[in-house]
Order: sequence, then C-alpha cells, then structure tokens
Amino acid sequence: MKKHDVQTIITALGGRAQLQALLSVGASAVSNYLARDELPQRAVGPVCAALRARGFTVDPTCLEIIGQRVPAAASVPLDNPHMAGNRQIANGATGSALLDTHRSSGTGQARVLLIVGGGIAAYKALGVARRLQDHDIAVTGVMTRSASEFVTPLSLAALTGQKAYTDLFSLTDEAEMGHIQLARQTDLVLVVPATANLMARTANGLADDLATTILLATTAPVMMAPAMNQAMWGHPATQENHAVLVARGIDMIGPDDGGMACGEEGTGRLSPTDGIVDAVVAKLAGRHKALAGHHAIVTSGPTIEPIDSVRFIANRSSGKQGHAIAAALAARGAKVTLVSGPVSLPHPPHVTHVAVESAREMMDACMAALPADIAICAAAVADWHVAGDTSGKLKKDHAGPPRIELVENPDILASLSAHKKRPQLVIGFAAESENLQANAAAKRARKGCDWILANAVTRADGSSVFDSDSNGALLLAGNSCEDWPQMPKIALAERLADRIEAHFG
Ligand code: CTP
Repeated sequence: MKKHDVQTIITALGGRAQLQALLSVGASAVSNYLARDELPQRAVGPVCAALRARGFTVDPTCLEIIGQRVPAAASVPLDNPHMAGNRQIANGATGSALLDTHRSSGTGQARVLLIVGGGIAAYKALGVARRLQDHDIAVTGVMTRSASEFVTPLSLAALTGQKAYTDLFSLTDEAEMGHIQLARQTDLVLVVPATANLMARTANGLADDLATTILLATTAPVMMAPAMNQAMWGHPATQENHAVLVARGIDMIGPDDGGMACGEEGTGRLSPTDGIVDAVVAKLAGRHKALAGHHAIVTSGPTIEPIDSVRFIANRSSGKQGHAIAAALAARGAKVTLVSGPVSLPHPPHVTHVAVESAREMMDACMAALPADIAICAAAVADWHVAGDTSGKLKKDHAGPPRIELVENPDILASLSAHKKRPQLVIGFAAESENLQANAAAKRARKGCDWILANAVTRADGSSVFDSDSNGALLLAGNSCEDWPQMPKIALAERLADRIEAHFG
C-alpha cells in the first residue's frame, strides 16, 4: 500500500523543481521518492506547509490532499498558473471534488477573451465581463489603446480578477503570456464594442496591436458587438467590412437602433448587455461536444533520462503535435489526460496535465490514467535509460570518459495496446528516416496499435519536423493508407480528431 501519493504531491506543488527546492535535494532523489511512492519523514512538515500555502487541505498523517480552497472570483481560469495543481489532480481520486466545484455550471468553466474597443460604449464591456462570470465563464480582458481612454485596465482587471492586457509590445506581458497563447487559450473571443476602426482593421487582416493580432491568430470562434455612430455604421466601407467579417464566420451581435451618445438616432447602438451575454452563452453551449463521455490519454513531448544529477539523455520533441491533439480532443468534449515530458509549451485548456520526466514515469502515469477509450502516443520516448544509481555528479578523471550502460525503457504504446484494460482505439506515431510506409506498417504490427501516423523525420526540402509548426503524415488505419500533406500541426490534430470522432460516431 502506498505511503504517499508522490506524483500528486509533485503536481500540486507545481512540479518536480518545486519539490527539489523545498527539500534541497537533486532530481534523482525525487525519482527515488517517486519509485518508492514515499517521501522521507523530514519532508512531511515542509511539504504539508507548502501544500497548505497553495490552498490545499492536507491530511498531515499521509499527506493526502483532500480539498482546495476555491478562489473568491469564479473567473479564475482552469489554466491559471496558480491553479495548476488544481487542474493537474482534477481527475485523480483526491481531486475530483475540486473539479466538481469548478464545473458547477453548464458551461464547464468556458473561457472568453474579451477585447474592449475604444468607443463611448467601452464602459458597457465591464458589465458584460461581470455578467459572463455570473454564468461561470472565466473572462480575460484585452484593451485597445483607445479603449483605455474610456475605461482603465485596472477596472477591467478588478472585474475579471485577472490581468488586463493592453499592449502587444509589452515585454512583461509577452514573457507572462505570449499573444499567440492568449489567442489560443480561449473558447471564444468577444469584441465589445467593435468600433468601425477595429472592424476595418480586422477585415483587412492588420495585426498592428494586441487586439488585432489576437483576432488574426485565434482559432476560437469570434463574436463582435458593433457600436458606432449611425452614419459610420451605414457607410459603405463599414458595411463592406461587416460583410467580410460575417463571411469569415464572425458572429455579429447587433448593433441596435435608437438614440446615441452623440445625440443622433439610428442604427449603431451597442446591443444590451443581456443580449450580448445570452448570445455568448448560447454559442458556448453549442460547442461541438461529439467526444463527450470519452476519455483519451495523450502522451506528448520528450522523455529525459538522467545520466547523473545534472546530465541526461533525451529525444528531440517540442510537444507541439501531442499538445495540439490533446487540445483538439478536449475541445470536442473528451476528458483528456495529457501525460507530457518537459516542454516549453503551456498545456491546453480543459485537460488533466500530468508532468513527467522519464519514460518510466510516463509509463506509470499512463497506466494510472486507465481506463480510457482512446490512447494516442505522440511522445518521443527515449529508448533507453541509464542503468544503476544516477544520483550524484559524475566527475571527470584520468581514466577517460565513463562507460554508461543503457537499459531499454518500457514501450508505452505496446503496453497500452496489450493491456487488459486496453483502450478501444490505440494510436501511435512512427518517426522514420526511410521506407516510411513499410517501416510504419511493421511498427504498427509490432506494437499492436490500431492506427499509426507515420512521418518522415526529415522532409523533402531537408527541413526537420522537430520544433516545426507543420507536419505531414501517412495514416495507416485498417487496410488503408492515407497521405496527409504538410499542414499546421493544429490542422493535423483537427484532422485526426475528425477521424476519431467518425470512429466513435
Ligand atoms: N513509444 C512508446 N514507448 C517507447 C517508445 C516509443 O510509447 N518506449 C511510442 C511513441 O510514442 C510512438 C511509437 O511508439 O507512438 C513509435 O515511436 P518511434 O520512436 O518511432 O519508434 P521506436 O519504438 O522508438 O522504434 P525505432 O526507434 O526503432 O524506430
């Protein structure tokens, strides 16, 4: 029987580095704790205190996490770094009550990025932000420069309980949350008020400030609530821009007819707050949830295998493809456990993220996540780990370089395929440098998975697939082999999610 659930404790503390720093120990000590599933007695006091400081309720006898303080503002998003521990354990046995607290509304903590345009109606965006949170929707605010002439970023930040982003070129903001991430980590982008200027810049694909950059970079649905003087609204330029935006799939809310702030009458008033909020809630409720009720395990990123406490062996992998697949499945309503080696990417919204380092940790995390309906092994798992004790630092001496004995790592894909709780659909990747189709077919048979996505590690133009934003693959499923051309990794993830959806449909 386990003494401590070390993986959950690490997750709740925010990662292995935090536990190392807390106990002043090296990486190998933490590996040992994980292997034994037990922390040393001297760790109990500091770990208990650190968990409590992060808002967890802890049973001090066994360090079991039995709850977490719910933040005051319902707007705290599930991927808020301060809540990382919450989400990471959310689907685990000890964290389920927490998740229920957060998913108390029908929208399941949907997230809206609210872009406030610079018009006299900007102050009404604050009411929209507040009312969205009444529906348990987390709101992150972005303001154009001219919007901050009408309302202050501080008001928006206070109302949403989160930083309000204002300037594309703020290095601090970029370091905290790059504009592409801001654009991607949301379920919906809402523009209130959409001014004539903002609509024109969006229609023309400009990206000259944070708001327009987000509108160009986002893959989430966009809704706009226009508001402007009636003559500006009626102008053919605005009407053409409006038509372009609608044709591109942007949902328009209003504008309404009536008296305006400038004293004129006509069409151009911002829709009432309730109308905007209802439209957003309806849009979010209609999100594509075809994979609801299905659990998917996705492995992503590299694994790293310690040689000693400072050196390691690793495979090349950015995690972009695996993370994109996890995001695509979660967006379709699947419960996703993303088991990821160290990557510099944020994990996507609405997934249970389990951070691991070595192949053996990845294996354990995948097995612990069973049962599942779908398993997708996109991780670049290191084939070997170093035999013996890897604690301490190897010193150079005159006898020459050390001899390192390697031991084969467990094959996670093959183990999942052969497991008695085998997921109904098991999908692997095959990174090949030659004979792509034949090698991938042999790998599929050897590993016992259902489908395999085979990609050439070097493309025809000589570029590498690693760290690239695009990917092309052969999909071997049943007796068929489909050639998927080079496309953004996000698009490849969507295509795979389409296939998975059709399989379960
Ligand atoms: N894989 C795994 N566990 C391992 C090795 C690989 O789960 N220990 C998975 C990968 O995530 C991928 C598939 O197996 O889905 C194939 O990985 P790849 O590196 O192409 O193949 P290897 O098994 O390492 O074989 P080889 O290096 O000989 O091509």
